[in-house]
Amino acid sequence: MNPSLSKFMLAHTPKHILNPAPTMNTELKLNTGASIPALGLGTWQSAPGEVKKAVVHAIEAGYRHIDCAFCYQNEDEVGEALQDVISRGVVKRDDLFITSKLWCTYHTRVEEGLQKSLDLLKLDYLDLYLMHWPVPMNPNGNHPLFPKLPDGSRDIDFSTNHVKTWLRMEKLIQAPSPKVKAIGVANYSKKYLEKLLAKATIVPAINQIENHPYLPQQEVVDFCKEKGIHITAYSPFGSTGSPMFSEEGILEVAKKHSVGPGTVLLSYHLARNSSVLAKSVTPSRIDENRKLISLDSSDMEKLEGIHKAKGLKRFVYPPFGVNCGFPDKPEGMDLSG
Ligand SMILES: NC(=O)c1ccc[n+]([C@@H]2O[C@H](COP(=O)([O-])OP(=O)(O)OC[C@H]3O[C@@H](n4cnc5c(N)ncnc54)[C@H](OP(=O)(O)O)[C@@H]3O)[C@@H](O)[C@H]2O)c1
Repeated sequence: MNPSLSKFMLAHTPKHILNPAPTMNTELKLNTGASIPALGLGTWQSAPGEVKKAVVHAIEAGYRHIDCAFCYQNEDEVGEALQDVISRGVVKRDDLFITSKLWCTYHTRVEEGLQKSLDLLKLDYLDLYLMHWPVPMNPNGNHPLFPKLPDGSRDIDFSTNHVKTWLRMEKLIQAPSPKVKAIGVANYSKKYLEKLLAKATIVPAINQIENHPYLPQQEVVDFCKEKGIHITAYSPFGSTGSPMFSEEGILEVAKKHSVGPGTVLLSYHLARNSSVLAKSVTPSRIDENRKLISLDSSDMEKLEGIHKAKGLKRFVYPPFGVNCGFPDKPEGMDLSG
């Protein structure tokens, strides 16, 4: 095409066609060839008695991506919700993207951990199975999920390490009839990923990390991009009680676009080509969180300015007393093996 004609056409093409606004189900490509829907419903701290209703409502409202974990101790109810919507024909299993996570006390029992989640969720397969934290804990300790030593510290299993766990997870995909479509990690820093990639045959499809304008984690986000690892952001609202909703810089960008602060906090991740998980058990909020918009470079600059002016802030702490994935603090104890 004549270059001046193409320049003319570009200049006159409406912005919404050149740069269409993301939707909750915008598909983001994974290194497996599959796609993940941009927005997922989080289920951490969704109480029994509430989580089934929340998942049913979300799927009826159009959500197709649900984030679960064995450790959340509510997968049985999430499974009831999935069974309900699938049996009523609201959605087909294959149109959902379901994630679960291998808990720390199962690092040496990967297949068993996966099967437990599948049984609770009443599913034959997962779209994604993540290593929840790169820290193995004693499988035979004084608690099935959070074992402690007599001095009160976490009962960490030093006989193994996260790289060995990853090699066990790779076998899930290499099995003749795999029960997972993709495997990935969560809470990994660049340093931990480098150790894993040095021994891995399969590059993790995803690194799920705490991520929001107070914690951009640029180093690990850039590293993942370079290695083809998709980022899923968790705690976009600052977790329990959504503290990020009252942040001045967020409110300014929200006002500019005439949207709520939640829309800005979720759309921030789409602008970074990440998917994002928003937890709610409140139907009106589940509906409200579906709205995503395109943020421009001046919006992103304003959001970047928040941590630059006020410092980094983390809202979710690892349950180990160990900084295994957070780059701005000393590592504490090196568990990377
Ligand atoms: N891989 C990991 O280690 C890890 C760690 C943390 C989280 N995650 C995943 O990421 C998900 C999301 O993170 P998160 O649960 O920590 O926190 P979040 O989604 O940042 O925030 C959840 C809080 O925001 C409230 N909320 C939701 N929508 C709202 C709205 N429109 N207006 C006002 N308040 C609103 C919720 O209240 P109500 O529920 O009462 O409505 C809840 O108190 C988790 O549920 C989990 O699936 C993964």
